[in-house]
Amino acid sequence: MSEEVKVERKKRSLSLIQPTSIPTLGNYLGAMKGWSAFQEEYDTIYGVADLHSITVRQDPQKLRRQTTELYAMLLALGLDPDKGIVFIQSHVPTHSQLGWLLNCYTQFGELSRMTQFKDKAAKNAENINADNVNAGLFTYPCLMAADILLYQSDIVPVGADQKQHLEIARDIAERFNGIYGKVFTVPEAYIPKSGARVMSLQDPTRKMSKSDPNPKGTVYLTDEPGVIMKKFRSAVTDSEMSVHYGEGKDGINNLMTIYAAVTGKTMDAIEQEFAGKGYGDFKTAVGEAVIAELEPVQQRFNQFMQDKSYLQACWTKGADLAQRVSQRTLDKAMKKIGFLLK
Ligand code: AMP
Ligand code: TRP
Repeated sequence: MSEEVKVERKKRSLSLIQPTSIPTLGNYLGAMKGWSAFQEEYDTIYGVADLHSITVRQDPQKLRRQTTELYAMLLALGLDPDKGIVFIQSHVPTHSQLGWLLNCYTQFGELSRMTQFKDKAAKNAENINADNVNAGLFTYPCLMAADILLYQSDIVPVGADQKQHLEIARDIAERFNGIYGKVFTVPEAYIPKSGARVMSLQDPTRKMSKSDPNPKGTVYLTDEPGVIMKKFRSAVTDSEMSVHYGEGKDGINNLMTIYAAVTGKTMDAIEQEFAGKGYGDFKTAVGEAVIAELEPVQQRFNQFMQDKSYLQACWTKGADLAQRVSQRTLDKAMKKIGFLLK
């Protein structure tokens, strides 16, 4: 009969992002910018982590709008539903199902050590009006591990702040495999060399964040060019007046990091380019580079937002594919644990 053909499966790249606002320049440079490049050589799975977003109370209407916008943004960034899976997490029930199972293979102690939980719990507890340190916030990494492990993902492109969550996902996978044999691929984090940690333009000692109370510190991907330029022109720097990377120069370091990530230039080349020039020139150049980078993304985003039926067709297709791939892993895990499959 025919020779046995061994089909090697491509490696898989997976990442999700929460629809808690329009993504920021930090989300883009730290994670999303690189996602489309994986489509050629990897099987890719990218999605909107709407289940994760309710660990903080969400307004229902706003959540619906932001989920749609974020999905449109993923397409605008070049993710192609014909090349890979582009889906919405809550459309695929296997995530919640495996998430529960993994809760039972994760220790209270290890979840207690997660810095994101500690930060968010402290923030919530401080705010009397938003006292909401809920169990979901605590077990969040188990759902994230489920997102990753369901697809046998090899690499997970994320910003530096997710490194600890990736480590716990690996620990959970190894623990489960240790008990039951190889069920899950143990994933690797893929953290970009430049842009992994973009800081606030107003307080460069803090991460640029969607939830920054000062909107001047955060560049959103849909900001108009004039708004972007204004934010860069008013970025906090220092009194030294020399564009070089160094200690105590958090503001300039951050602007150089952004410029390097957008233009691909090295830090040395940037220092040379701006030798003898003032911060004003440098800030304008960074603003211009970011505006030019985002312009085509914004155009595509606006087009997709005008075609809701296309978006809907894409996320329906994404959900069907994601369900099919992830169900296999869920069944395998359930069988190993001792559940009766119907
Ligand atoms: P989130 O907004 O928390 O859903 O994050 C989505 C992705 O963006 C994750 O991979 C984060 O690591 C990344 N990310 C978030 N904020 C930043 C930042 N300021 N700099 C670099 N990457 C970031
Ligand atoms: N926790 C991630 C964040 O806040 C979002 C996320 C959810 C994620 N599930 C994931 C990232 C799976 C990578 C893989 O940024």
